[in-house]
Amino acid sequence: MTENIPLVSMKGITKNFGTIEALRGLDLEIGSNDIVGLLGDNGAGKSTLMKILTGVYLPSRGEIFWKGKKLVNHNVKMARDLGIETVFQDRALCEQHSIWRNIFMGREITTKFGFLDVKKMREETIKLMKNTMGFTSAAIEPNNVVGFMSGGERQGVAISRALYFNSNLIILDEPTTGLSLAETQKVLGFIKRIKNEGKAVIFISHNIYHVYPVVDRIVLVDRGKIEYNYSKKEVSLEELIGSMYTVAGHTVPDDVDIGAGG
Ligand SMILES: Nc1ncnc2c1ncn2[C@@H]1O[C@H](COP(=O)(O)OP(=O)(O)O)[C@@H](O)[C@H]1O
Ligand SMILES: [Mg+2]
Repeated sequence: MTENIPLVSMKGITKNFGTIEALRGLDLEIGSNDIVGLLGDNGAGKSTLMKILTGVYLPSRGEIFWKGKKLVNHNVKMARDLGIETVFQDRALCEQHSIWRNIFMGREITTKFGFLDVKKMREETIKLMKNTMGFTSAAIEPNNVVGFMSGGERQGVAISRALYFNSNLIILDEPTTGLSLAETQKVLGFIKRIKNEGKAVIFISHNIYHVYPVVDRIVLVDRGKIEYNYSKKEVSLEELIGSMYTVAGHTVPDDVDIGAGG
């Protein structure tokens, strides 16, 4: 019974900014262990939708349900208490601080005398990064400074932080934008780890090649509406690319290289 109730259900979500209709009656459900790829061009409304889910904005119209229960006056604190975490591409971490400090920043473990329990936080950092996230390189010495890590590894630290604090739904806003192919692969590996942990992910991107390998479902937002919502089982990458071109009002060019990951 409970498996049939989605973790999140957003119904008829509309958001106006003055005369701009950023979202126009949008419905979206996320299952409790779903990896959903949220695709769409710049200005489509992806970030606005996520800000509504994380309580930054209230919708102009529409309702949000969490495990079937309607959220009333949803706000940032409520979203955090429910375990909804956003990992932003740039603002995720303090570059001059160590890995363990970044993971526990604002939620430090203390001893019974109220001192920082550095030993415990270092141990937890190693456990989390090795066992949960699958880090292997020597780069995960917990005292290492985040600023010296690669872009993909930093995403891994930010995701580790979200996982440690028992999030149920992790929103990754453009986690692979600006990363090299190898670094992108790392981030995709981390997303698989989140799936293995039994959590849900919303993976926002405008790059279908990054999204397709790891997601269960693909949702395309176009001008404030959901243009399509497919389970990966029902649609091949080629078909998806075809429908994206159709949505954009183009036909698929003959020379489109679906193997490229740019
Ligand atoms: N705070 C705001 N005030 C006014 N317009 C906004 C605001 N936030 C977003 N918009 C507008 O809403 C539309 C959707 O934006 P956004 O959700 O950021 O799109 P995406 O994340 O898909 O690129 C855009 O037209 C954008 O200019
Ligand atoms: Mg955005």
